Amino acid sequence: MLFSRLPYHCIPLMILLSLGAIGVSGEGRAGNDAAKVIRTELGQELARLWCRQCHVISPEGTGLAQSAVPTFVEIANRPGQTIKKTEFFLADPHPPMPNLSLTRDESLNLATYILSLKQQNGN
Ligand code: HEC
Repeated sequence: MLFSRLPYHCIPLMILLSLGAIGVSGEGRAGNDAAKVIRTELGQELARLWCRQCHVISPEGTGLAQSAVPTFVEIANRPGQTIKKTEFFLADPHPPMPNLSLTRDESLNLATYILSLKQQNGN
């Protein structure tokens, strides 16, 4: 047994580390609350860098309002919208939106951020 050879004080640290690894990568994906919080933060940063020149990216109105471009709040609140659907859209964008060549992680972080804007009183 691996743990029996380690000093006792290492065990809580190891458990924390392994929980973190499960949450932020691999099968945990966006399913875990802690991972969701981190992905939301990272996605918001990416949106500030790459999306706000076209989209309104926050409920406070950060970004450029253009009538042809849906705001992130609108996208999040479309009926049946999910993180998965948004992620797929980002992986395979269509004109007039430019192909941003996002990595899978970036797409997931952005999709998690966008869906965090879903209004709780809706569906
Ligand atoms: C150059 C302008 C531009 C940039 C930059 C841009 N978008 Fe878009 N985006 C658009 C336009 C225009 C549409 C509407 C496309 C349509 O109606 O088919 C759109 C649509 C979308 C949709 C979809 C919606 C749907 O119909 O369900 C999502 C999601 C989206 N953008 C996410 C992003 C994210 C995330 C970024 C930053 C990584 C980004 N966009 C950057 C112009 C842009």
